[in-house]
Amino acid sequence: MSENYTNKMILAPMVRVCTLPMRLLSLDYGADLVYCEEIIDRKILLTQRIENGLLGTTDFVMSDGTVVFRTCPQEKGKVIFQLGTSDAKRALAAARVVEKDVAGIDVNMGCPKEFSVKGGMGCALLKQPEKIKQILTTLVEGLSIPVTCKIRVLPELENTLNLARLIEGTGVAALAVHGRTQDERPQHKNRNHIIKAVAEAVSIPVIANGGSKEILQFEDIEKFRANTGASSVMIARAAEWNCSIFRREGQLPLYDVVKAYIRYAFQYDNNEINSKYCILQMMHESMDMPEGQGTLSVKTHEDISEVWGMQDCYRQVLQDRKRLEGSLYQQAGDGSYGFKRRKADDGCVVIEIPVKFDKKCYLPAMSPKQSLHEWCQRCLYGNPKYKTVERPGDRSFNSHVLVDGKWYTTSFWEKRKQYAEQAAAMCCLLSNNIHDGRIKEPDDQTPELRQKWHQLAQSRISPSSLQTQSQVEENSDCDEKSTGLNTQGDIKSQLASDSTTSNTFEAVTENKQTENHVHKSGTAHVTERLPDHVVDQTGDCGSQMVPESTSQVDV
Ligand SMILES: Cc1cc2nc3c(=O)[nH]c(=O)nc-3n(C[C@H](O)[C@H](O)[C@H](O)COP(=O)(O)O)c2cc1C
Repeated sequence: MSENYTNKMILAPMVRVCTLPMRLLSLDYGADLVYCEEIIDRKILLTQRIENGLLGTTDFVMSDGTVVFRTCPQEKGKVIFQLGTSDAKRALAAARVVEKDVAGIDVNMGCPKEFSVKGGMGCALLKQPEKIKQILTTLVEGLSIPVTCKIRVLPELENTLNLARLIEGTGVAALAVHGRTQDERPQHKNRNHIIKAVAEAVSIPVIANGGSKEILQFEDIEKFRANTGASSVMIARAAEWNCSIFRREGQLPLYDVVKAYIRYAFQYDNNEINSKYCILQMMHESMDMPEGQGTLSVKTHEDISEVWGMQDCYRQVLQDRKRLEGSLYQQAGDGSYGFKRRKADDGCVVIEIPVKFDKKCYLPAMSPKQSLHEWCQRCLYGNPKYKTVERPGDRSFNSHVLVDGKWYTTSFWEKRKQYAEQAAAMCCLLSNNIHDGRIKEPDDQTPELRQKWHQLAQSRISPSSLQTQSQVEENSDCDEKSTGLNTQGDIKSQLASDSTTSNTFEAVTENKQTENHVHKSGTAHVTERLPDHVVDQTGDCGSQMVPESTSQVDV
């Protein structure tokens, strides 16, 4: 496995910088291996592995939708996952989460940041040889892919050499050495001679790091390697500034590199804050350019596209994604579009839609909660009632909102209680095709998708059989004949549809949707209760329950 790390040019791990777009671009320019940013073991353990058909990526996603790690086939066999850890067992469990999707696992033993050191990670490990041994041997024995680690040099040469020998003894495939001590900062001279001494003291490949200030062009990479006597070179800041440093034919103009980065950022839906950070880092010496100044105030990829004159590229990426989205949801097979209608054992009914609250799509004065409140007042439904549960594992929240005898919720967990309530309100409004106050479509939704969710929410038939609008309408007719339209629910729904037609999402489908809404809601005089897990944790929802009834349950 050591040969994987011999004679290589490597993109170093960098928080915020080394997400998928930077890694792919570095590979395009000639890097042999690319490290991801350091990811803490506890964090990756909280994720779920998801094949993202829309982007063609494999994502490791938290319950609130945060993507912790995203990879794609283009970097297969070349991406190294860097782990932040202080515990052998947890490190192994975390590494196993991504084992099949990465080329190697690296343990960060060089981070001097307070957050890491206080948590016993990063540089804190350098003072605990037994812990190092435990972590690395556990990983080497437990994994099928190569394990490496990245250290800083110690103040004393002999101690550094002893540490390197101890690490070699754990069976790792290579050792990356940053030639600065824990207390030294980037402006301090890199101790190339210590890296050289380490390379002479061990027989595994040594990866030299810390040379960015002396790597100004491609040829300098080889000079740095020769000076340090290392097998390979790992570059951080020189690549952060212009990752075409890896290009054998010479560096490309910064402007072209930034644009190529932005294209990947759009394509792979990179975290927008990270994209902005990266662009600003690249522009650090060119902030007099209008694009540099313009980037200072961007918030979204759309803003970036405007500053960099890449609106066409951005629009194209979104269009392609939306086109693909519709067909993927269909291919998913069950035609559910993520929509769920549940009936718990005790008769509870809950409508669940996979939506997240994206703050930037709303004005503060007209949030989904505000829109829902107003709609409920107009419809005489009374105030919406929110019930929220907190998941202790990652302190995230999920809310249900009760409106007109139905509970609405989202499949996502949010980091903030407020956002969880907003998402529940969105579910209710989307289910009823009522405008939720958005001033812009969230990235994860299309009008077609909204339409499907609304159809499914208003339909009584199972999601899998809901293929066409005509089928939905056929079912509507049956319901109307069998139930009539003379209940309290009917009257409320009629009021609702009368007073909210101008609030519905699509004027084109307005009449049809409103009709459906009346017919279906006409049967909503059902026993609908909060699911047990919500009742258990909030303990005060019994008073809102409709008594047990044998009425038709809309499930
Ligand atoms: C923005 C930034 C983020 C970094 N994040 C990490 C990290 O996640 N893990 C790590 O081991 N080192 C991290 N480092 C340190 C670099 O990997 C590298 O060791 C250091 O910058 C010296 O190499 P250079 O001279 O090529 O920049 C980071 C450095 C920078 C500039």
